[in-house]
Amino acid sequence: MNSRLLLASLITWLAGCDRPGVPHGAQPVAHDSLAWTQSAFNTNCRGCHSQGAEGAALPLMNANYWAVATDAVVIEAIAHGQGRSMPAYLDDEGGPFTPAQIVSLVQGMRSLWGAKGSATGGEGGAISPRVIAGDAGAGAAVFSQACAGCHGPQGSAGSVIDPMYLRLISDQGLWSATIYGRSDLGMPSWSQTMPNRPTGLTAQEVADVVSFISSHRGIAQKASDGP
Ligand code: HEC
Ligand code: HEC
Repeated sequence: MNSRLLLASLITWLAGCDRPGVPHGAQPVAHDSLAWTQSAFNTNCRGCHSQGAEGAALPLMNANYWAVATDAVVIEAIAHGQGRSMPAYLDDEGGPFTPAQIVSLVQGMRSLWGAKGSATGGEGGAISPRVIAGDAGAGAAVFSQACAGCHGPQGSAGSVIDPMYLRLISDQGLWSATIYGRSDLGMPSWSQTMPNRPTGLTAQEVADVVSFISSHRGIAQKASDGP
């Protein structure tokens, strides 16, 4: 379906919500084809998630991403957005998509860009963020050795442990960035060479460093709660 048609049917569908007697979602948009996925992605996501250096966010048209992200986590990210840096796409939160459409979008993106079996296997498949518990104390050491050379020591402005930065990124975002890297911006993936880590990080070190970075959220909360 082309994007104009998609928009037109979305408008009809949204208008339908206000009319008495017309059930919510009375004119569902067909969303079961890869053509729909590509078009929905181009219209809604590509400006930020495009491949290459021009995108403001992780490139999603990339098998390495799909190797580290589970459907559940991606669906969650799209439905509710990412703080102030990405809007929520779920209709109940003012977005354009029904839950079923978000599921279709994610399955479609995985078919288009994921390697076969990438939900569990693939290059980064040895890491499952949900099953390894991170230790923030151990992560502090990993951070100062492997990350601080590029990201600055603890507390420096613009660092990824800056509480202001952490308001803009979810824990999933931290996981993805650390595992997948940002090859578009010059950041290595977990299995590539880093300072003091010629063969990259272990799965446990990824869990530890993410836990360390995330632990600075508490500081952000306390600061904004005031006296
Ligand atoms: C060779 C330099 C380099 C190393 C080493 C490095 N990074 Fe990065 N990192 C970057 C660059 C460049 C960016 C993208 C620029 C930016 O977002 O400011 C980045 C971005 C990030 C982001 C933000 C991603 C986003 O989308 O906002 C996180 C989180 C991050 N790095 C974590 C880490 C962690 C954890 C380590 C250590 C395990 C690490 N980095 C090691 C260069 C590096
Ligand atoms: C205005 C820019 C913007 C738009 C539009 C946008 N995103 Fe995002 N998105 C971001 C930012 C910023 C992040 C968090 C940090 C990052 O990934 O660099 C993010 C994070 C995500 C994540 C979580 C990535 C992870 O860390 O694993 C997914 C999945 C995602 N977006 C999918 C989408 C999809 C699908 C669309 C379209 C329906 C979309 N985004 C539209 C900016 C955007």
